[in-house]
Amino acid sequence: MPPVSTRPPVVRISGSDLLRDLDLTHEELLHLLNLAGEMKGSPKDYAGALAGRSIALLFEKPSLRTRLTFEVAIKQLGGDSVFSEGPVGGREPLKDVARNLERWVNGIVARVFAQETVEELAEWASIPVINALSDLYHPCQALADVQTIQQRFGNLKGLKLAFLGDGNNVAQSLMITSVRLGMDFALGCPQGYLPNPETVAQAEGLAAVSGASLAITHDVAEALAGAHAVYTDVWTSMGQEREALKRKKAFRPYQVTEELLAQARPEAIFMHCLPARRGEEVTDSVIEAERSVVFDQAENRLHAQKALLLMMLG
Ligand code: CP
Ligand code: NVA
Repeated sequence: MPPVSTRPPVVRISGSDLLRDLDLTHEELLHLLNLAGEMKGSPKDYAGALAGRSIALLFEKPSLRTRLTFEVAIKQLGGDSVFSEGPVGGREPLKDVARNLERWVNGIVARVFAQETVEELAEWASIPVINALSDLYHPCQALADVQTIQQRFGNLKGLKLAFLGDGNNVAQSLMITSVRLGMDFALGCPQGYLPNPETVAQAEGLAAVSGASLAITHDVAEALAGAHAVYTDVWTSMGQEREALKRKKAFRPYQVTEELLAQARPEAIFMHCLPARRGEEVTDSVIEAERSVVFDQAENRLHAQKALLLMMLG
């Protein structure tokens, strides 16, 4: 008799795509976190789950973590990937790109400049599309980040995550995902660099349901007070290089230093999606400190994305 599996069945994601964090239901998000933890513990159990499946990685922007963790994830699950770098839809309409790809592969992972690009790909392709970072969201990063916080603290509800810096793609995904899971979220950012109002309104709605608090402030001390995790990201995202000088000036007071971190809880961890610019958004000593979990976050990109792939394509 073959051994009886005690694992709960993998829940299939109800929507076909992950374009924004909200495309996962709350239950799917919780299931994904559990599954990611299991896959981390017993990676061999899932080998072959994507056998015979091919996934196209379309990247308009550079990447180390996202590209490689998707490639390794797909390989470990027994699938294949193909990579294409450069403008998506530069040579032909996006609707044609989408209808070519669906004839060859089983899924698309796309890193793009404009959120509209992944939305249009998904509209035209009959296969799942995963947003691997756009100007608005970085949902795969947020999944790995909450997994990292959960591993550190054993729970999420009731914790506080403080994000210092730009109200950018990473901040917006984290804001949605953390308040949804019952974590208080505070963004400390300079004037002119707020997250987009539509995302804030969505986060307020989610916070009202989960009981989490949401604060958006220019006051660093207010953002940091009581924080269990302090997060930052680059001040100048890919595609904004021409604004770098102006941004460096505006964000100076938000640099995560040891003095600043001391305003959070004594056990607070430091987080960054990477790549980091040491000496800008964070000092070298903070990122190298024991409380820094940046490489755990990077590792969890692999596990969270394996769980996501399994739930979408397995
Ligand atoms: N954090 C992250 O997405 O890293 P890459 O830009 O290297 O993919
Ligand atoms: N906000 C950054 C994240 C990089 C992973 C960017 O978009 O460049």
